[in-house]
Formats: sequence, structure tokens, C-alpha cells
Amino acid sequence: MLITGTRTGIGKSLAEHFLGRGYTVIGCSRRSSTIEHPAYRHFEVDLTESQQLKRMFRAVRQEFGHLDSVVNNAGTATMNHFMLTPEETTRKIFDINFFAMLGCSREATKLLQRSERASTSILNISTVAVPWALDGQLVYAASKSAVEQATRVMSKELASFGIRVNALGLPIVRTVLTRTLPDEARANALARQTIDRMCEFDDLVGPVEFLTSERSGFVTGETLYLGGVH
Ligand SMILES: NC(=O)c1ccc[n+]([C@@H]2O[C@H](COP(=O)([O-])OP(=O)(O)OC[C@H]3O[C@@H](n4cnc5c(N)ncnc54)[C@H](OP(=O)(O)O)[C@@H]3O)[C@@H](O)[C@H]2O)c1
Repeated sequence: MLITGTRTGIGKSLAEHFLGRGYTVIGCSRRSSTIEHPAYRHFEVDLTESQQLKRMFRAVRQEFGHLDSVVNNAGTATMNHFMLTPEETTRKIFDINFFAMLGCSREATKLLQRSERASTSILNISTVAVPWALDGQLVYAASKSAVEQATRVMSKELASFGIRVNALGLPIVRTVLTRTLPDEARANALARQTIDRMCEFDDLVGPVEFLTSERSGFVTGETLYLGGVH
């Protein structure tokens, strides 16, 4: 399994979880690894640099030969009125949230096709900021909307290769990304959720295990939102 963005937050917790379950996990981030495990392989790579991204996948092919599942988790957010968001910031957000996801999916497809599994999977991490269309989150929500649309189209374009593509839309989870979120923004988000409590890491595990395993072998092109958003 390959998970992007494993130095901190959700990616790190997911990597540690799957290592505990006996998986071989490949992870990456720009800075060095924070995971010590014999079945863990870390690549220091900036996924917004396509040459670095391709080099990582070449090395994965040489060392492991194939992939069974990929979680496109690396991403970042910006919370600001769009009138106050510089174009450079917008491009940076799209570079990691959308273009890196696309690049990883393109390279991973070649390795997923080499898996012995009948059904392999790509899981993209998205956010409830998409269906909620929250003010102050235009750039972030737009970048993840692009991820969700790519999920739907890619699921069709990769179906004949036996690759399923789904997305998981997360509510606020306490990580480096959200620790500076004002209390008011956190309270507003919680008030919109159907389940009236903070999403914990344990709440993610079941959905991620399901969507990355063959137990979801007949599910593709879907975005599953956690916490109840409609
Ligand atoms: N936390 C939440 O409440 C929440 C809610 C909804 C959705 N999400 C989504 O969940 C995902 C993970 O978020 P998180 O909260 O766990 O964030 P996080 O703690 O900031 O983790 C992001 C990870 O991505 C890596 N990364 C960032 N830019 C990268 C790049 N250019 N190349 C390679 N790696 C890069 C970071 O490591 P380096 O800094 O070392 O590169 C880090 O390991 C994101 O896609 C986010 O949008 C989070």
C-alpha cells in the first residue's frame, strides 16, 4: 500500500495502522520520516515536482514491483476570503491537492496493474468543505471539488484495468493542519455535522480499510462523507 503525506496527521496514523495490520507500507513527505518500522519505506519527495514524483514511483517499481492500493492523502488547506488569497497561494494549493493527486494516480496505475489482486484501488482524501461550500474556503474547497470530479471520471477511465477509484470526505480531524483553526470555525463545522462530535482517527479506519480492500470490490466513483453532511 502506498500512502502519500505520512510524516504527520492522518497519513501518519493510517500508515501506522496498516503497518500494525501486517501490510508493507510505502509513504512519502517533503521532510524526513517520523515512522520507524521494518515494513515501512519512506521517500523524501516534493510531490508538486513531477520529476521527483516519477523518480519515487520508478524506485517503488524496482523495490516492490507492484502496488495493491494507493491513498492520495498529502494535501494542504488555506482558510481565507478569496479576495484576500494571492494567486500564488491558490496555485500552490492546487499543485499539491489536485495536480500531485493526478500525477500519483497516473504513475500508480502502472503499478496497480501489476498487482495479483482482481480489484485494486485508489482512494482520494477529500473534505466536507466541498458539499458545504463554506465561505472562507473557496480555494481549498475548489481544489478538493476537482479531486472529487477526478475520482468520478477516473473511476470510469480505469475500470477496464480493474482499478476502483473512490474518495473519502472528512470533517474536521485534529491534526497539524487544523490546530490553528479558530474555536468559532470549529464550533460552526461541528454544528453542521449530523453526528455532533469531533471526528477521531478511529472513525476513519473502517471506511479506509473498506475502500482500499477487495471488500468494496463493487464500489467505484463514490465519495463517502463522514459525520453526516446532508
Ligand atoms: N485534518 C482535517 O481536519 C482534514 C479535514 C478534511 C480533509 N483533510 C485532508 O486530509 C489530508 C491530510 O491532512 P492532515 O490534516 O493529516 O494534514 P497534515 O498533518 O498537514 O499532513 C499533510 C502531510 O502531507 C505532506 N505533504 C504536504 N505537502 C507535500 C508535498 N508537496 N509533497 C509531499 N508531501 C507533502 C506533509 O509532510 P511534509 O510537510 O513533510 O511534506 C504531511 O505529512 C489532506 O488532503 C487534507 O486536505 C484533513
